[in-house]
This record gives sequence, structure tokens and C-alpha cells, in this order.
Amino acid sequence: MKALVLSGGKGTRLRPLTYTMAKQLVPVANQPILGYVMNHLKDAGIKETGVIVAPETQEEVREYLGNGEKWGLSLEYIVQEKPLGLAHAVKTAREFLADDDFVMYLGDNLLGSGIKDAVAKFDRKKTDCMIFLKEVSDPRAFGVAELDENGNIVRLVEKPKNPPSNLALVGVYIFSPAIHEAIDTIKPSWRGELEITDAIQALIDSGKNVTGEILDSWWLDTGKKDDFLAANTTVLDEYTVRRINGVVDEDSTIEGRVQVEKGARIINSTIRGPVVVGEGVVIENSFIGPFSSIGPGSKIKDSVIEHVVILDDATVEGIVRLEDSLVGRNASVTKSKRLRGALRLMIGDHSRVEI
Ligand code: DAU
Repeated sequence: MKALVLSGGKGTRLRPLTYTMAKQLVPVANQPILGYVMNHLKDAGIKETGVIVAPETQEEVREYLGNGEKWGLSLEYIVQEKPLGLAHAVKTAREFLADDDFVMYLGDNLLGSGIKDAVAKFDRKKTDCMIFLKEVSDPRAFGVAELDENGNIVRLVEKPKNPPSNLALVGVYIFSPAIHEAIDTIKPSWRGELEITDAIQALIDSGKNVTGEILDSWWLDTGKKDDFLAANTTVLDEYTVRRINGVVDEDSTIEGRVQVEKGARIINSTIRGPVVVGEGVVIENSFIGPFSSIGPGSKIKDSVIEHVVILDDATVEGIVRLEDSLVGRNASVTKSKRLRGALRLMIGDHSRVEI
């Protein structure tokens, strides 16, 4: 079994973060999403992995993943010149995939369960395609499955205006080589993409065996903006362990599951987990409440924050309470002593400020 990780595309929904980084590299609980994907492939015993990259963002993806050694994987990068759809990505990787079964993993998806059991199930069942379904509140943003009374898949539709069910397609698919023939029969959709959903429908129509499994664990499509803080919260809740590798002074209190990486310094502050604090962070005279991630190199001073994601090298200073927020790399949120109630802002494109 091979793997194909999709790390191309445009990432418009996560702007402004994705103006300066690939959406698959946006950190959740201080680890890029692709890091979780690689861990899941490793846990499933997969070795040969193709990574679809876009010309614009390939450099940073290659820099993060390297040759895959860190995860025991052997990586091959495949450049997709234009984001012409998930099925187009499979077509682009045709030579790498050869006639092997493969897992296709969308690089902006996170699954609580990983994929080990799914891969084992596919190997046992020997079907042509296994997809994973999860109930969502608004299926219009996803591929959606219609099942018959016995739970068999009857129809799949991509981003339907009138969804036939609330069962969304999760961004992990397992295929036999039969998918390549199916892809050859489909045409671009209304949004100009070769949809993998249409290719799977073509498999069903030609009588191939397609099975749908309902996913028990949580699943997050981090490519959708509103899910981003939710993803951070879920992952912090699930994975954070208490581990203090930085320096905590005697005037500080660390409560519960808090990770403080090496080189970080906590001075006269309280941190209440689950919280992750990256390498080299300085937290001084502050309170950091649950479900916060502080990216490497950031500085928090004289502030109270809770349920906040702060990316690398940012500064928060003199802010009495910052909640439910996302602060980008090298950004700074500070209180000016001179302005007496006035605001002075420099906000990047597509940013949002609620005051
Ligand atoms: O997340 C699950 C959903 O993923 C499914 O429910 C949908 O059926 C499926 O079409 C897909 O929808 P999205 O609109 O979320 O896909 P998106 O364009 O965000 O692309 C998913 C990943 O694949 C993302 O990491 C970018 C990458 N990609 C995307 C395209 C279109 C590529 O590498 N190449 C591409 O051409």
C-alpha cells in the first residue's frame, strides 16, 4: 500500500495566514497539520508516499517534510502545476502510484483515529474503494453521500446546494488501481475541477465495489476557517501531556496538562492547561488560560489570554483579555500607554478585528 498526500491547492479560505504559508503547514497545537498526517501514515505501516505540491508553496513543504526520514517514510514529491482537482492530482501521480493500492490523504484534514484500522480493514475487505463518512451540520461545504436503507452508497455529490444527507466525505480515501480508469471517464465539474467524488461515482456506476465506513472519531477539515480554532482546541484536548522542558520561576504556577518546550521561560505567570508553549517563548506577568497554543519565539507580557492560537515570533503585551483569537507569525498586539482609548491598527488583507 502506497500513500498520496495532497499538499497543493490554493488555501484561500484560511487567508490571511495562507498568504505567507501553505495551508497544510498551518500549525495546530504548534505542529503543522502535515506532521499529523505523516504520523498517521507511519502508524499505518506505510512507507512509499507521494506528496502532491503546488509550484508556489512546494519549497516550504519540502523544507518541512524533507525526505520523510523523520517519520520512517520514503517521500517522492510530485508537482501539480495547477490545482485542477483531487482527481487531477491522482492523474498527475499516475506514474508514482503504478498499479498499487493507495491511501489518498488530504493534507489539510485531521482524523482523531488516524488511519491504521482503516488500512487494515481495506486489506481484509479487498474492495475497489473505501471512503469514510461523518455527520456534519452543514454538508453543503463537502462531498455528500446518499445511502440506501441497507447502508450501501447509492450516490455521491460534491458540495450540493440541496444535500441528500448530512454525511460528508472525509478527506481520506483508499483505492485499488481501478480508480485510474474511472478518472479517465470523468469531466471537470462546474467549478472547473476533476472531482474525486465524480470518479468514485463512476466506480459505483460501473459496478465496482465501493464501501463507506462511518467514522467514529473526530474529524476536522482545517482548510475551513471556522474549524481552525476548533481544531486547535480538539487537538490540545486530545494530545497534550504535562511536560516541562523550559524554565519556570518560583513565582509561576503551571496547572494541569501544559507542555513547555526547551528554551521557554515562564516568569511570574500562571498557565492553566491544556496549553502548549513553543521553544524560546517568554511569558511574563501573564495568565494563559486553557486551549491556547503559543508558537516558538513568541513573547507574552502583562496579558491575560484564553482559547487563543499564537503563531511563531508574535508579541502580545499589555492586553487585559484576549479570547477566541488567532495571531499570525511576527504579528504584534500591544497596548499603547499614550493613546488613551484610541486604537492604532495595521491589519493585513482579509484580517478580522472585533473590538
Ligand atoms: O475535507 C473533505 C472534503 O475535501 C471532501 O468532503 C470533498 O468531497 C473534497 O472534494 C474535498 O473538498 P475541499 O473543497 O475541502 O478540497 P480542497 O480544495 O480544500 O482540497 C483538499 C486538499 O487537497 C488541500 O490540502 C489542497 C489539496 N489539493 C486540492 C486541489 C483542488 C491539491 O493538492 N490539488 C488540487 O488540485
